[in-house]
Amino acid sequence: MSQRLVVIGSQWGDEGKGKITDYFACKADMVVRYQGGNNAGHSVMFNGHKYSLQSIPSGIFNPATVNVMGNGMVVNPVSVVAELQKLHDQGITDYQLYISDRAAMVMPWHSDLDGAYECLKGGKLIGTTKKGIGPAYSDKYSRVGLRMGDLLEPDYFAERLKAAVEVKNRELEMLGLPAYDFDKVFAQYMELAKILGPKITDTSALINRYLREADKKILFEGAQGMMLCIDHGTYPYVTSSTPSSASVPVGAGISPKWIDNVLGVAKAYCTRVGEGPFPTELHDETAHEIRERGHEYGTVTGRPRRIGWFDGVVARYTSRLAGIDNWALMLFDVLSGLDKVKICTHYELDGEIIDTPPATISKFARCNPVYIELDGWKEDLTQIKDYNDLPEAAKAYIRKIEEITEVPVGVISVGPDRTQTIIVSEKLRNF
Ligand code: GDP
Ligand code: IMO
Ligand code: MG
Repeated sequence: MSQRLVVIGSQWGDEGKGKITDYFACKADMVVRYQGGNNAGHSVMFNGHKYSLQSIPSGIFNPATVNVMGNGMVVNPVSVVAELQKLHDQGITDYQLYISDRAAMVMPWHSDLDGAYECLKGGKLIGTTKKGIGPAYSDKYSRVGLRMGDLLEPDYFAERLKAAVEVKNRELEMLGLPAYDFDKVFAQYMELAKILGPKITDTSALINRYLREADKKILFEGAQGMMLCIDHGTYPYVTSSTPSSASVPVGAGISPKWIDNVLGVAKAYCTRVGEGPFPTELHDETAHEIRERGHEYGTVTGRPRRIGWFDGVVARYTSRLAGIDNWALMLFDVLSGLDKVKICTHYELDGEIIDTPPATISKFARCNPVYIELDGWKEDLTQIKDYNDLPEAAKAYIRKIEEITEVPVGVISVGPDRTQTIIVSEKLRNF
């Protein structure tokens, strides 16, 4: 039977999913993205080069790996073509990429509406990436959206597009935004179809073929992080999809029975971009130090990321929701040099100690973290290849995370490069 590995973000995104996916993609036959869109920014580094991906799976650098953009994604064809061009300019020309015919399409008005809805919220911005992700998912669920497969049937696409332009122009007009001309959009998308058309296919059928083959290794690459989940995150300060292992079956078109190995990617501390509550957030010199050492600025928007201590309440919650088997503990090198390090074990809410996040952000914003403090370590970790060579204090920090979350750390990342990765779990070593 095939081997499957699901890689998901377990905090507020940017945990290092791109790095981990690329690391395992070198051994994988297939890498599948199954939710989100170009709101994601996944960085991959090898041979001294850093690459940034938004919609395209992080297996794209391995010519032998089949990359799939699944039906659960929202795909912006303009951005995909631009991303492919950028990869081409960086010398990445030999790759395999397929796009689901059932994936929702992000249209130009979606980013206009994303921006306009944010403005309408006045002071209560979500701080979206303004890529049109929310409006595109809304149209999908309102059943007025277009899908990637529509591009393969020009007459059908024209019919759907005409109806969409009519409705959206009315909405844009009400918001004081410029309207779209059907002929211009149609012509532009037919040009995009010439490039992307050959890659658009029934990807569920393709993935299921691989699943049934004994020697195949398949990696499912999540985007965003569980605390940005539309259902379980800090609603409404969330994205519009479910960045969980639970999304894989729907978003890739496979049976849930195939999901059995979930790697939760977690920073050794926490970051968040955009608005919303963040109990362990730091505003002091330590935050500044971590931000600069970890280059904590958004891959997509360049915004400085908010910084906080590792949140064990969030980690326990996301591991419960997504069935995390192992942590990939990322950016561990960044914590070197701090005298003391803290891990949040519980929250204090209105005088009570709680061990799981509350549902409303009004309560979440009132949660005060309860910490345990551990000794820091001074040693540079970036060249360490073996768990046993880590400083004792660093090992104690890892053990504490395992104890609090009841999930073993299977991977430790000590730098952005592919080679700066320590695999602890036997099962993951054998993937
Ligand atoms: P993703 O969205 O989860 O793929 O994460 P991003 O790529 O947006 O952000 C993670 C950042 O951390 C990127 O700049 C990576 O190159 C970098 N990174 C990943 N792992 C490590 C690590 O172990 N140490 C350091 N110093 N940087 C890392
Ligand atoms: P990766 O895959 C971090 C955040 C935005 C905003 C909220 C809603 O790189 O981890 P959206 O544009 O999705 O409607 O924005 O979600 N957000 C992310 N934060 N990493 C991401 O992706 C994110 N994708 C969305 O900043 O707060
Ligand atoms: Mg990112």
